Amino acid sequence: MCGIVGYIGKRVAIPILVNGLYNLEYRGYDSAGVAVVSDSKIYDVKCPGKVDGLARLAASKLPASNIGIAHTRWATHGVPSVSNAHPHLDCTGTVAVVHNGIIENYYSLRERLVEEGHTFASETDSEVISHLIEEKLKTKASIDAAVLAALGELEGTYGLAILHSGTPGCLVAARNGSPLLIGIGDGQFMVGSDQAALVPYSSEVIHLSDGEIAFISKEGIDLRTLENREVVRQSEQLTLVSDDIRKGNYEHFMQKEIFEQPEALGNVMRGRISTDDDSVKLGGLLNLMPKILSARRIILTGCGTSWHSALYGKYLLERYAKIPVEVEYASEFRYRDPVVDNSDVVVAISQSGETADTLAALRMANAKGATCLAVCNVVGSSIARESKAGIYIHAGPEIGVASTKAFTCQLVALSMLTIAVTRGLNPESEDLKTISAELRKLPGLMSEALQLDPFIREVAEAFYESRNFLYLGRGYNFPVALEGALKLKEISYIHAEGYPAAEMKHGPIALVDSEMPVVFLAPRDETYGKVVGNMEEIKARGGRVIAIVDHDDPRVNKMAEYIIPIPKTIDSLNPVLSVIPLQLLAYHIALLRGCDVDKPRNLAKSVTVE
Ligand code: AGP
Repeated sequence: MCGIVGYIGKRVAIPILVNGLYNLEYRGYDSAGVAVVSDSKIYDVKCPGKVDGLARLAASKLPASNIGIAHTRWATHGVPSVSNAHPHLDCTGTVAVVHNGIIENYYSLRERLVEEGHTFASETDSEVISHLIEEKLKTKASIDAAVLAALGELEGTYGLAILHSGTPGCLVAARNGSPLLIGIGDGQFMVGSDQAALVPYSSEVIHLSDGEIAFISKEGIDLRTLENREVVRQSEQLTLVSDDIRKGNYEHFMQKEIFEQPEALGNVMRGRISTDDDSVKLGGLLNLMPKILSARRIILTGCGTSWHSALYGKYLLERYAKIPVEVEYASEFRYRDPVVDNSDVVVAISQSGETADTLAALRMANAKGATCLAVCNVVGSSIARESKAGIYIHAGPEIGVASTKAFTCQLVALSMLTIAVTRGLNPESEDLKTISAELRKLPGLMSEALQLDPFIREVAEAFYESRNFLYLGRGYNFPVALEGALKLKEISYIHAEGYPAAEMKHGPIALVDSEMPVVFLAPRDETYGKVVGNMEEIKARGGRVIAIVDHDDPRVNKMAEYIIPIPKTIDSLNPVLSVIPLQLLAYHIALLRGCDVDKPRNLAKSVTVE
């Protein structure tokens, strides 16, 4: 998704804006631009490609200024090019706009503005905003009134930062459907599409809500609704620090985040699992626990990796809490007018807390009367703020586009939710203490699993030229098979599919030949014998078997080209460990294929458009 940075304050704007763009690079983009106001004129530079190119251009071509806006573009309308890059200026060059989102009615607005004599320089939907403000300025006395009038005509989603050369002391920010934050620093203010844009120049943050607009000067923030009513909003401490968004000694963010998982697991459990009696306390849910325990069913919804976590959550909650659980792709759930009412609990699972489809599904469920909860990583994100309560996974910023530590922390969060719900419904359950005790061992077991890294690189060397992969698992490891396939395809661009292992017989086994690597999740659990049987079926057809195991078995040793041993834990927590070699395998294969593991082609870290 696009990245937005804005600055107004006592410092020179350009280096701060460029630093903000560097901090947003992980979101994926294809072009970038900067605009500043100096001597009541707007100056801008834009270019395709990396922020480095833009930084050089901005330093050489832009005058000193203490107000500006900047943008990294992830194309939705129009190819990546200088003309389509943001900021977009109006005909007079006095209004500059950077935008994240989609203006649904841009075509009709553009037609009308062209009839009114406006000339467009790009193919984007975003450019209509600058020309619309220009048109409103012909009849409105101030930029405030002109922007409010223009936004009133927009349909769709936007996060905006706006400059007007006639009002050089005012930076305008507006939000409707795309996240936008205001950073507060010492004599300076920033605008950003996420917290990463604001560090290190902000110590506090204000989250804009949909339908809000801020007129920011060096003196302060004038926050209003689109109906021009004043809004009072408390600022919050900005928890992010620069190191959180730096690679440190790692080569890639994804590598850093894979190896941060033991620490992240410790964070998600900290203060929530008692070391005395292994009980689980989820403070964020306490008030809603009666509602959860009396629910007719729980619906878990999310997208991508978060949907895989949801599937795992279903297996766990139904096995232990004996409560009906449904798992829904958020993008389907939101549109099919599902039967949801106040007897349902809906849990939105989202690392970013900004995924448009998941947010829309949550809003739909809320409107239907369900009790809506969230499992999120980003504090203060839209999904977190629009849920009645939830569980923050405290994984720390996840910068790599491919989700890793957020996934394993989501699994642990859902395990703790299962313990809390089961204790409420079935206090005598003997399993709870075992699960809690095993949860607390996971960080250490995961550190052990991460020592597989050099071996996994060897495995990657044997398979990185493969054109297809299959990932097979049963039970709790079926979601892991899906996740392993997603990891590989999204960063190495190799086609990969995850299946329930037994499903092979119903068609997919036709794909198997000597060119097909098949990764088996094969812990010694209740379906182990069946998985070994599936392995034999694949082997008999020449498939190349890679087995993730937690024990030694001569039969598997005979069939598998590579045996990857992970530490033993209880069946229900095995996925937290079995996914580690799959993350590392995807990482090393992608590197061997020369792919950009942190910013894979066509992808963005947070899909805030539908
Ligand atoms: C996973 O590696 C991908 N980055 C993607 O599938 C992601 O999980 C999905 O877009 C959902 O994101 P969210 O968890 O931030 O809502």
